[in-house]
Amino acid sequence: MLPVPRTNIEGIRPYKPGKPIEQVVRELGIKGPVIKLASNENPLGPSPRALSALRRVLPELHYYPEDSCFQLRAKLSATYKVDPESILIGNGSAELIMMACLAYLEPGDELVMSDHSFMMARIDAAIMNARLVEVPTLEYTHDLERMLASITSRTKIVYIDNPINPLGTIVTKEALNEFMAKVPEHVLVIIDEAYSEYITSRDYPKSLDYYNQNKSVLILHTFSKVYGLAGLRVGYGFARPEIIGCLGKVRLPFDVSRAAQAAAVAALDDKRHVVRSRQMNEAGKEFFYRELKKLNKVFFLKSFANFVFINFAVDSQEIFDELQRRGVITRTVKEYKFPNALRVSVGTPTENKRFIKALCEVVGS
Ligand SMILES: Cc1ncc(COP(=O)(O)O)c(C=O)c1O
Repeated sequence: MLPVPRTNIEGIRPYKPGKPIEQVVRELGIKGPVIKLASNENPLGPSPRALSALRRVLPELHYYPEDSCFQLRAKLSATYKVDPESILIGNGSAELIMMACLAYLEPGDELVMSDHSFMMARIDAAIMNARLVEVPTLEYTHDLERMLASITSRTKIVYIDNPINPLGTIVTKEALNEFMAKVPEHVLVIIDEAYSEYITSRDYPKSLDYYNQNKSVLILHTFSKVYGLAGLRVGYGFARPEIIGCLGKVRLPFDVSRAAQAAAVAALDDKRHVVRSRQMNEAGKEFFYRELKKLNKVFFLKSFANFVFINFAVDSQEIFDELQRRGVITRTVKEYKFPNALRVSVGTPTENKRFIKALCEVVGS
């Protein structure tokens, strides 16, 4: 006989990450370089400044990290003009989503999100035995009006990933301002801006305004994307100190490693790396759009992030498998209810060409 887990755990399907290169090489025995365009990582790698900071911290790894992430919070405070008491660092922004669910969701409470949004909030709500209220997207992005209408007295959290993963589209400043003006005060609105540093559009919301207006928001950012530190796991959130205090109660001690803290502080100083990454991403997306337009029966969305959502006329699993056989790892998005689509991260120019060449071979040009 085995110990019995909580009943609601049974139905949970764990998060399925993009396949690591090592696994594909092991499983398929592929010779030659395999490229990964599956997890929206920065193809330029970490900033050189972050790497130097990492080297400096290596001899200190026998010490636990500073639990309060003092330096990183001070740096973020100066960068964003937000009080350090309003900043929480996490083991990736995914941990901060989980902390919010742990801190706020009683069994039967509701979490409202789009049906196609990033998976973690859905999983965390299930862990908490909360009721997930999924709202269909409208024209490939959040239907904020309908999300607002879905809020009840039991709603504790609304989760909005902006850009939405895996679609790459955004809700505009105007739309989000209107939503935030009407959202009831008992609701914590999580605005997940994992890809915001890639965005230069004036239509993109300035979500710190909501924090400055004392709204109940948790604004999430990460070092996993433009800063190229996904392997170290570090993300951060802005919220009123009362909210940060609640999240702090369910936080694991020392959740952000000494290495992660040092690298993140240095990465924030490397503006050049961010600009280069953004420029390469823009050029890569333009290349994708140009090439994808030439293909028959292929639909794609213009993306504000560092990945492109591509929908085919057929089940995407076979296309995924064929690309993988050619050493190109992409991402199916079936669990996001898109059985015919792939999400493809923008790589280096060489990687992008390799993906397009492989895709032409697979689907015909
Ligand atoms: C919208 C969104 N939020 C959060 C994350 C997770 O980021 P982190 O690596 O900081 O946990 C991702 C990762 O792909 C994402 O797409």
